[in-house]
Amino acid sequence: MFVSAVAVAVAWLAGRALHAVHTPADAAAHVLLLVGAFVLARLPLRALAALRAGRTREVYSLSHVLLNLTDPGTLWNNMGLWRDVAPDDFPAAATALAARLALAAALGPADRLLDIGVGCGDQTLLYAPQVAAYTGVTSLDAQAAVAARRCKGLAHAALYTLDASRPQSWPAAALERAADCNKIVALDCLYHLAPDRREFLTYAHSLLAAGGAFAAADLVRGDSPSFLQQLGLRVVCAFAHTPVANFVTVADYVRLLESCGFTAAAGWTVSVEDVSADVFDGLARFIKRRDASLGAHLQFKPYSSFAKVLAWWARSGVVRSVVVTVRK
Ligand SMILES: C[S@@+](CC[C@H](N)C(=O)[O-])C[C@H]1O[C@@H](n2cnc3c(N)ncnc32)[C@H](O)[C@@H]1O
Repeated sequence: MFVSAVAVAVAWLAGRALHAVHTPADAAAHVLLLVGAFVLARLPLRALAALRAGRTREVYSLSHVLLNLTDPGTLWNNMGLWRDVAPDDFPAAATALAARLALAAALGPADRLLDIGVGCGDQTLLYAPQVAAYTGVTSLDAQAAVAARRCKGLAHAALYTLDASRPQSWPAAALERAADCNKIVALDCLYHLAPDRREFLTYAHSLLAAGGAFAAADLVRGDSPSFLQQLGLRVVCAFAHTPVANFVTVADYVRLLESCGFTAAAGWTVSVEDVSADVFDGLARFIKRRDASLGAHLQFKPYSSFAKVLAWWARSGVVRSVVVTVRK
């Protein structure tokens, strides 16, 4: 208020001074000059006001909580496999789900692996030392940059920021590396592909031959959700920017794989293991514990809301967590 009053006074004086020197050609130019003087006069006065307010405001907040956290050393971001791990050990659960996929794909030292949705590269650090060549793909620049920094010592690994929904859009270098792969894993990622998984699975089929394998930790939907449950799932998907079309039943998932070429007639074996009992509840409990210990200091709301969704999935079976394995 004070700032504006002083600015008006300065503008008025400027206007008077200008009027005394010239006779303005027209009224519009005069008004423009006054507005300009008003805006210019406010700038130093605002800076002064901010300085005065700064003297009475604290520099502190709760951001110093970050100074007290220890570096976790890992940046996992999957739902975890909460079997035989301590209830507060998220990295161990996340590593266990990643290890479950390595087992499903029967990774070995001669394999050339294409890894989808690598996030910040923890799975690169886990898988790359187990194989002869490693190609990782993930969609977010920020995460890919972190992954690249953490994995730069791995000479036989290459990381790309790409959309796995549309492999045909990948650059030649990535396509060339992928074409040489005999194993593919996708850790907690395929349900994000848009509009659905079809293009990726068709591409995956084109890469794999006898001795090859594809393994994914993925989400599907229960067999007979009620109308309200389907509505609830739509809302969750909208919030999570995840296509609801990916939440198909196990039977539809298998049909999709077949239509992409992974048929028994062609020698492919498809298996889908439901691991929901070791996934949703464990993660929901872990998030609740984290919320109870850190939620008062750090912004935990998105995770505590997600924990409620996980508990709903665990209770109702509306969404199921599965390990999909395809081998020849
Ligand atoms: C739930 S996180 C899992 C991250 C990582 N696999 C882990 O276990 O820590 C899903 C990851 O998939 C990536 N992603 C989502 N959509 C993708 C797409 N269309 N193409 C490639 N990556 C994608 C996300 O950026 C994210 O890093």
